[in-house]
Amino acid sequence: LKQQGRELVGFVDDNKEGEVDGINIIGKTDNLSELDADSFVIGIGMNLKARDLVFKKAIDAGLEPVNVIDEKAIIDKTAKIGKGNIILAGSVIGHFAKIGDNCFIFSNSIIEHNCELGNNVQLAPGASLAGSIKIGDNTLIGIGANIIEEIKIGENSIVGAGAVVLNDVPDNTVVAGVPAKELRKNE
Ligand SMILES: CC(C)(COP(=O)(O)OP(=O)(O)OC[C@H]1O[C@@H](n2cnc3c(N)ncnc32)[C@H](O)[C@@H]1OP(=O)(O)O)[C@@H](O)C(=O)NCCC(=O)NCCS
Repeated sequence: LKQQGRELVGFVDDNKEGEVDGINIIGKTDNLSELDADSFVIGIGMNLKARDLVFKKAIDAGLEPVNVIDEKAIIDKTAKIGKGNIILAGSVIGHFAKIGDNCFIFSNSIIEHNCELGNNVQLAPGASLAGSIKIGDNTLIGIGANIIEEIKIGENSIVGAGAVVLNDVPDNTVVAGVPAKELRKNE
């Protein structure tokens, strides 16, 4: 944030008041337009519906999404990163990769060359995407999952922890296992 000339002024939390790690909670998601702030990033993990909902509320309130990227992440200079993304330490984003908006890339995730992530995609720690993989909006890739090259994963889907994905995954589908198989639909 400092590199972008910005500072963290506070958290927004619908369920808590007071402070977190010495940083004040300055409001709730229903009063975003009244905050003394001009930009935001969504800090919610796992709950992709909540992430999407609050992201849209913040945009409607006139706030600008900003990226928060750990200085220990490695991002190729040809990669295109959207807005409102969190990219944690040890992540590697390769040649010509594209990341949408409001994605959460946890530690040590690998997004190899030419991969394309939609909006609100979450990669749990240590998830590895080989080259030229496409991932649709609102999809979660579980911790330590591996996906082979040129696979397409649909929207609103989940790849389970530790899965090895060898085939395309349709929209609204939960897969898990080695090799990954459909567990259920994601309602
Ligand atoms: C895939 C997942 C979403 C399934 O959750 P679920 O629908 O609640 O599934 P259940 O826990 O009811 O398990 C259903 C069956 O699938 C199996 N299963 C669940 N997750 C699995 C996984 N990751 N790999 C292999 N099998 C799995 C269960 O053992 C169970 O098998 P059984 O019917 O033979 O007993 C979940 O287990 C998962 O892996 N989530 C990702 C978590 C993660 O990465 N968090 C990171 C936080 S940053």
